[in-house]
Amino acid sequence: MYNVEEIRKDFPVLGLEVNGKPNTFLDSAASAQKPKAVIDKITDVYSREYSNVHRGSYLLSEEITSEYEQARQKVQRFLNAKSPSEIVFTRNATEAVNLVASTWGRKFLTRIDEVLISEAEHHANLVPWQMLRDEIGFELKIFKIGDDGSFIWEEYCKNLSGKTKLVAVTGMSNVLGTVFPLKKMIEEAHRVGAKVLVDACQYVVHQQTDVQDLDCDFLAFSGHKTYGPTGIGALYGKAELLDAMPPYQFGGDMVNVVTYQSTTFDVPPARFEAGTPAIVQAIGLGEALDYMMNLGMGNIKAHEDELTNYMHARLPEVEGLKEIGTAEGKGGVFSFVLEGVHPQDLAFILDKEGVSVRVGHHCAAPLVRRMGYESLTRASFGLYSSRADVDRFIKALQKARNFF
Ligand code: ALA
Repeated sequence: MYNVEEIRKDFPVLGLEVNGKPNTFLDSAASAQKPKAVIDKITDVYSREYSNVHRGSYLLSEEITSEYEQARQKVQRFLNAKSPSEIVFTRNATEAVNLVASTWGRKFLTRIDEVLISEAEHHANLVPWQMLRDEIGFELKIFKIGDDGSFIWEEYCKNLSGKTKLVAVTGMSNVLGTVFPLKKMIEEAHRVGAKVLVDACQYVVHQQTDVQDLDCDFLAFSGHKTYGPTGIGALYGKAELLDAMPPYQFGGDMVNVVTYQSTTFDVPPARFEAGTPAIVQAIGLGEALDYMMNLGMGNIKAHEDELTNYMHARLPEVEGLKEIGTAEGKGGVFSFVLEGVHPQDLAFILDKEGVSVRVGHHCAAPLVRRMGYESLTRASFGLYSSRADVDRFIKALQKARNFF
């Protein structure tokens, strides 16, 4: 039984007031709150056993190295990867995409190739490919989505061809909430010989992810959106692809033999983790993924789906509100405009009511423009969001409505 009121007690910040009002946190798509288990784990590691990993021949270092590598195994379990060596710790999803672009991309893409992305990408899965296109000269194709934010199978397929070497797509849009049919898309991409990278920043937070079932070649996500610390994320890559990729950054911990003249490099994932990594953040991420897996990804999804239906039942009560992105089966992300009210003014009023939302282009400026706006207000759910949050949000919107 998913008891959201009990779950909320695991998140200390949710029990505090904001501007003297109950904390109505509706910005989990930007960064999620942390459960006490994660906060305690971080404190515990720093208080009890902190040292560097992979370098010390003493007990503390052995213990923390083991915890760090266990965290990798937790990411492996979370994604159902075949092996922990297919998991590279990165700073976030942005760094994971940049890693693939800089290594796999530079080695395998040529001037005559095509890279296919969608109109729904946020900057992290758009700008690295633009930069690489400018360097290598391949064609960066962008397939269209519907005006309601929906995925259109024909638009996707008509852009795929024998020239497509990589499809890099979001699993779930951070602006529209649209969930892409990844499995079918990946199958089709493989049929033409393309590799597929999934930007799963939002996707992994809201449903079970199984990289073996999806058969994606790469998948990137950020720890801070999965209830873990900032400064940590992960790249999943199929073993044979990571093996064939040159290093991303150079330094300690990613080398075999170093002389003044030359260097040989370690195997993945060490090859891609130069320097002292984000040790405690990785362990904190492992704890956060445990927390989600203990609740059950199916249960989280069922709760959020139910809450999404509730939000959709209540939003029409607010006069002049238009939701942007209404694709069938969308996740708990609600971008909208309120007629006659500037998003920034709206966010200000909502904040005074203790309601935190994001406003602006949501790190996806071309997408927001494609939908016909420069700025949108966005409310988004986490696993702890509740009907009471939605009720307070609607009430605050009505207050703003009456104000203007
Ligand atoms: N991409 C993140 C968001 O959607 C930061 O807010």
